[in-house]
Amino acid sequence: MGRLLKIAIDGPAGAGKSTVAKLAAERLGYLYIDTGAMYRAVTLQALMDKVDMSDETNLTRIAESVDLVLRVDTNGNTRIFLNGVDVSTQIRTPLVSRCVSVVSQIQGVRHKMTRLQKEMGAAGGVVMEGRDIGTKVLPDAEMKFFLTASVEERARRRHAELTERGFTVAYEEVFEDIAQRDNIDSNRAMAPLKPASNAEIIDCTSMTVEQVVDLIVGRVSRGAG
Ligand code: DC
Repeated sequence: MGRLLKIAIDGPAGAGKSTVAKLAAERLGYLYIDTGAMYRAVTLQALMDKVDMSDETNLTRIAESVDLVLRVDTNGNTRIFLNGVDVSTQIRTPLVSRCVSVVSQIQGVRHKMTRLQKEMGAAGGVVMEGRDIGTKVLPDAEMKFFLTASVEERARRRHAELTERGFTVAYEEVFEDIAQRDNIDSNRAMAPLKPASNAEIIDCTSMTVEQVVDLIVGRVSRGAG
């Protein structure tokens, strides 16, 4: 394949971004970068330090001081290390999910994460997934996709995923969590969730994962020339 491109995949919680971005990266031989995991790791550190979720100064200090490393393990799964410790499982708990929308609204936290993510994507050959990748982190990405699906379908998928991971949680709770996060993520002042003007919007409600991945890989392969 030709040039190494920057691929941005954004969209709301539960649209299937992670699965799709990971598979697309594998097929392209690109690095997969899960930026939500980075916000989750900062949130986990704040919870461990018992910092109040409204304490912007201390949350910013935590974001500035943590050491975050993303690494691909032998099974091709991305692991995230927080100050040298693998926290890939701990960052997925419902408590972290509830707090992360608040932490990710803080300007100081976003500045630090955006800076790191820009560095990670600078050389290209990346599929970076998040909320503001096409708009703020990699505005120069050659390919931008915005994945979406109905709230019901996203809640159904997220519920199945959590159940599979061994968490006992009611569908209604997941639905409420997703609806609330949509609201916070879309209406925050800084880097709100919205498609970049040049993003391709893909409604995945009735598409299989394979269909979405095929569509993205097809576009990228043509774009790489
Ligand atoms: O993709 P996720 O559910 O793991 O993301 C967790 C939270 O992080 C989500 O509620 C919004 C926030 N986030 C963000 O604000 N910007 C990003 N680029 C990625 C995630």
